[in-house]
Formats: sequence, structure tokens, C-alpha cells
Amino acid sequence: MLDVAVVGATGAVGETIVRVLEERALPVASLGPFASRARTGAVRFRGTALDVRSTSAEALGGYDVVFFASGEDSCERYAGALLERGTVVIDNSAAFRLRDGVPLIVPGINGDAVRSGDRLFPVANCTAIVLCTALAPIARTAGLRAVRVASYQAASGAGRAAIAELDAAERALLDGAPEPPPQIFPASLARNVIPAIGALDASGYTGEERKVRAETRKLLGIADLFVSATAVRVPVRTAHSEAVFFETERPVCVEALAAALESDPEIVYYRDGFVTPRDVEGTDRVHVARLRAEADEPTDRFALWCVGDQLRTGAATTAVRILELLLQRGLLAR
Ligand SMILES: NC(=O)c1ccc[n+]([C@@H]2O[C@H](COP(=O)([O-])OP(=O)(O)OC[C@H]3O[C@@H](n4cnc5c(N)ncnc54)[C@H](OP(=O)(O)O)[C@@H]3O)[C@@H](O)[C@H]2O)c1
Repeated sequence: MLDVAVVGATGAVGETIVRVLEERALPVASLGPFASRARTGAVRFRGTALDVRSTSAEALGGYDVVFFASGEDSCERYAGALLERGTVVIDNSAAFRLRDGVPLIVPGINGDAVRSGDRLFPVANCTAIVLCTALAPIARTAGLRAVRVASYQAASGAGRAAIAELDAAERALLDGAPEPPPQIFPASLARNVIPAIGALDASGYTGEERKVRAETRKLLGIADLFVSATAVRVPVRTAHSEAVFFETERPVCVEALAAALESDPEIVYYRDGFVTPRDVEGTDRVHVARLRAEADEPTDRFALWCVGDQLRTGAATTAVRILELLLQRGLLAR
């Protein structure tokens, strides 16, 4: 049995990690919820209200596994000492994802890449996880040369306060009251879409778009894959959607790719119709629809639509599945 800490347990991802640990019945002896400040009885686990503690190196010292769902600063601050003690660190921030020698593991895509002795596991970017889950069976079937993607990203991707901001703005518009100025988003998200997630660099791409490019290459293990992303925030509560245009290495027919998607246990494939973010909220698989060829078949050019709950598939469930993988492989002393 394991002693497990969740740093950021009062946030959107952290509270989902706690829920998924319970749902999937991980062998947790004790759960320690942490945040930036203490609260009494603020997190429920297995029917018990647990006190949330303020995060410190000493307080995290006694745990076998520490999940971070609290941003880059806190994981960077505490990870070194935890790793030295042999603690497994599973981090939802971008701090370590692209470090040389640090594996970027999504169990449904590249679980085989875990090596004995690995202790630090960044969880990949949520948009990249949804994208790569949809593309992995395609890459295995026909190779992959280029990916262009426009993402339609949910408000909760920016955390709990972002949902509150969207709610308040929508309420004000409905009531005809003055709209509170946006604090989290760079413009009001109510009745709007915002084509900027993260800071723009000199090349014209945003931070989120650069993460999607670099992490897609690392996750799929194709270092020279062409990836161009446009990341857009939309006033959806939960689940990211993506319109994906891709080129395979070898010309194939839609049916070959459809069969690969259909037989992949990580994917719900829709031969007909479409799927929306509200349809997939609370689910753990990536939903793929509208696969089509852009030219006469066989061809190397295709398009598809994919949707995934970014709090679960894109963060919490993937984080918990990394722990499950270590347990299944006997890579964690218990
Ligand atoms: N939201 C998503 O869809 C998503 C998806 C993938 C990855 N992520 C990543 O997951 C992490 C958490 O995101 P979120 O959306 O869950 O954010 P959130 O809803 O804003 O929650 C942040 C959590 O971190 C805690 N926290 C903040 N600063 C801290 C500190 N210095 N020490 C300890 N705890 C601290 C907060 O505690 P207080 O309540 O006490 O402030 C809160 O519990 C971020 O790295 C984010 O990039 C998010």
C-alpha cells in the first residue's frame, strides 16, 4: 500500500486526480492533500473529508508518490529532494516534459518507454495527449510526416478560477450588468473565442502551440515530424476538441486508418456523425470522428476531428495510469 500526496488537490486537475485514484481503486494507504494554503476538510477521499495542508518540503517528505497539479514553480521547487529520497514524482506541469533523459509517458501511447529506475514522470500537455492518442494508431499503420491542428480548448484548461471568470461574465451578459474585466483570459471568453493560449513568440506561435509541436514529436517518437498548431480558447466548460489535418508516410485508404482507430482500446471511433465536448465530459478515452481523405484514395492526406476530457485523459487519468503502470511492471517498491 502506498502513501500518496496530491499537491494542488483543491484545483481542477488535483481534485480530479483524487477522484480517479478512488475510482480506479489504487492501493492508497493514506492520501495527503496539499495546496498553497491549509483548509479544514476541503477534500473528500473514500467518503472522508480530509484537511488540506500548506505545501512544504518537510510535509511532503514521508510519501511514496507525490502528484503535482500546482504549476511549474512548485514541482521545480520540491522535485529534486523528493527524487533523491526515491519518491515517485508525477507532475502535470510543463517543467520537466522536454528535459533530456526524462521520459514523457502516456500509458496508452508509449507505456513501453518506462525504464526501471525512472522516478520523475511529467504528464504531457493535455492538447498533445488528445492529439497523439488519436494519431498513434495512424502512425503505426501508415507512418506520419506532417500534422496541422486547430484546437478548441475548454475554459477549465486554465484552471478553476477560469471557470469562475467565464461564469461571472456570462451571468453579467445575461443580466445586462457590466461585465467584470477578464483576469485569467486575455479577453472575455463569454460569447467569444480567443486565438491565443500562452505567450506569443517572435515566430508568431504561442506557448501552447509550441508545447503541442515539441511534445507531439517526443510522444510519438518522430523527431522531425512537421507540426503546426493554432490553439483557440472556446467557452466550453470541459473537454478539448481538435480539427486535425495530417500527412502519412505511405498512401493508404481511409478504411485502413478507420480499422486502426476502431481497434485501439484508447479510442472511441465514430464511423458516422460527430462527437462534441459535452458528449465526452467525464470519460477517459479519446473520441475520434469525421475521418476523411483529402484526395482520391489511396492518398497520404487526411483530416479528422478528435475530442477528449482534458482534465481526465489530458491530465488526471493519465497521471494515475502512470502510477498503475509502475505497479503493474513491479517498478515501485510497496
Ligand atoms: N486544467 C487543465 O485542464 C490542465 C490540464 C493539464 C495540465 N494542467 C496543469 O495542471 C496544473 C494545475 O492546473 P489546474 O488547472 O488544476 O489549476 P487550478 O485549478 O488553478 O489549481 C491549482 C492548484 O495548485 C495549488 N497551488 C497553487 N500554487 C501553489 C503552490 N505554490 N504550492 C502548492 N500548491 C499550489 C492551488 O492551491 P490553492 O487553492 O491553495 O491556491 C490549487 O490547488 C498546472 O500545471 C496546469 O498547467 C492543467
